[in-house]
Amino acid sequence: MIELKHINKIYGHFKALDDINLSIEDGDIFGIIGQSGAGKSTLIRCINMLEPPTTGEVLVNGKDMTTLSQRELREERKKIGMIFQHFNLLSGRTVYENVAFPLELCHISKEEKDKRIMDILELVGLTPYRDKYPAQLSGGQKQRVGIARAIVSNPSVLLSDEATSALDPETVKSILQLLKDINKKLGITIIMITHQMEVIKEIARHVAVIEGGKIIEQGTVVDLFTNPQTETLQNFVGSVMSSEYPEQLSHMNLQKEKKNPDDLTVMALSFRGDVTNEPIIASLIKKFNVDVSILYGSIDYIQNVCFGKLIITISGNDGNISEALSHLQTLPIKSEVIGYVSNDD
Ligand SMILES: Nc1ncnc2c1ncn2[C@@H]1O[C@H](COP(=O)(O)OP(=O)(O)OP(=O)(O)O)[C@@H](O)[C@H]1O
Ligand SMILES: [Mg+2]
Repeated sequence: MIELKHINKIYGHFKALDDINLSIEDGDIFGIIGQSGAGKSTLIRCINMLEPPTTGEVLVNGKDMTTLSQRELREERKKIGMIFQHFNLLSGRTVYENVAFPLELCHISKEEKDKRIMDILELVGLTPYRDKYPAQLSGGQKQRVGIARAIVSNPSVLLSDEATSALDPETVKSILQLLKDINKKLGITIIMITHQMEVIKEIARHVAVIEGGKIIEQGTVVDLFTNPQTETLQNFVGSVMSSEYPEQLSHMNLQKEKKNPDDLTVMALSFRGDVTNEPIIASLIKKFNVDVSILYGSIDYIQNVCFGKLIITISGNDGNISEALSHLQTLPIKSEVIGYVSNDD
């Protein structure tokens, strides 16, 4: 378990991190998202003390990293691997030699080192490239070398500072898949900072949003995607999910009040998981004798959970409509009346 308690980082008069509190469970994939300059790199570098916090505690498995001697810190750092946006490989060394680098100071036999390196190269899919130099590799292959080097000494934690930001979308997918495999097979806790919401959507289980050095929102990815509280997160979510109100709605003459008895009530429904398969609409029509038409529908997937969105109109007599609306309130879905339109529009 990793716990950050009241972390502050001050550069001169500038507060880069402001009272950060986070706790990350073993085996989790924890994403930290924020705009450029938000403090992401500073934060992740506090975890392995590449950037010691000005005040606060960094507990890794109960040990406060900020109180360790240089020697103890070197030992603890072996349990924390790190990967970077620009890979940081040694250009004069082959793939094999790059991966061997962290083992140079380890007291294990040559045979054991060789076996470990070959196993890791196999895991990241680079066995045929063992004697190539970084300049001969693609970006994705370079990041695979970075990952192999970061995990060759069996760390329990892997820190990723924008590891996919320099890669094209297809390669991003394959690197994220590799990180998922590593998390699953080796049980390594992964902490990844990113400004790309796709990365969070694809692999994180928990996410924290950082802005101006502060954590402004955190929770499970599924909860935060369905119910983002801050404008910052709403914008991030909007970048990967279909927008809340579709284009068509802006062409409709949506009124705030019902003006005529036969005006249509326009509603937005959003729901997740199994609810999607329930015949919500059919039962409204049948049970409450109202007319329902669907103006817009969309389905998104975040990892294995599906999210649906519907914009519908309801018409009928007022009593029936209000009963139908009350019924919707009892279902495990979010429903809101977003306005009214005239029946002839
Ligand atoms: N060594 C330093 N001295 C002074 N200010 C710094 C130092 N390192 C970072 N900062 C400032 O702290 C803030 C946070 O920087 P940080 O690198 O953590 O941001 P980031 O979220 O990683 O941004 P990016 O997405 O661009 O990498 C920035 O305003 C930056 O200018
Ligand atoms: Mg950064």
